[in-house]
Amino acid sequence: MRSDRQCKEACRPGSAVLFGEVAINPRKLGPDDLSACLQLDRIALTGLWTKQQWEQELADISRMVMGIDAEDQSLIALASAWLVVDELQITAVAVDPMHQRCGFGARVLQAVMDRATALGAVSATLEVASTNTVARAFYAQCGFSTTGRRRGYYSNGDDALLQSRSIRRGRDFRTYESE
Ligand SMILES: CC(C)(COP(=O)(O)OP(=O)(O)OC[C@H]1O[C@@H](n2cnc3c(N)ncnc32)[C@H](O)[C@@H]1OP(=O)(O)O)[C@@H](O)C(=O)NCCC(=O)NCCS
Repeated sequence: MRSDRQCKEACRPGSAVLFGEVAINPRKLGPDDLSACLQLDRIALTGLWTKQQWEQELADISRMVMGIDAEDQSLIALASAWLVVDELQITAVAVDPMHQRCGFGARVLQAVMDRATALGAVSATLEVASTNTVARAFYAQCGFSTTGRRRGYYSNGDDALLQSRSIRRGRDFRTYESE
């Protein structure tokens, strides 16, 4: 189980996440991380993608997957996205349930947005199930606003909420929208 101390340290502002006494920086994941991504997908996203889909996600240069490892090198957080011209389309964010609410999700999401910003992205978008209240709170805290709804989008009938934000440094989404 995570300790309060680990959580407190992980939530410190700054570029590195602290886990225990060790600073952990997000890293770009690649084909060698396939089994770790599958495992994290299984426990945090209840099997969002197949092995073949993860293989493609990790190998395709138009996609990016960032991750955070624990001290024992196990993968505890990931964020995946596609860059379509100047729009970052975030496809998944997952944190090991044993390490949730410690700041890892926000840090790995920021890492993928930073990488995309360096490549010319100006906005980020994603879809979240209207019933996923934790993820909605998370994305709101990370600066996303709801910009649309797709009714019955998911196979269980849930609506998808479209979320967006600017990722240009120093500007918020409202500024971007009003231009
Ligand atoms: C959503 C998810 C990625 C958040 O990751 P996390 O590391 O636990 O989130 P963080 O610790 O970075 O939290 C950042 C903020 O999000 C919000 N938040 C996160 N978890 C929350 C919860 N359980 N309840 C309410 N707000 C929450 C809070 O505002 C939090 O800031 P705070 O702790 O200072 O209050 C994680 O819960 C997860 O993997 N869920 C399952 C997979 C999923 O639904 N992914 C999103 C759809 S692809």
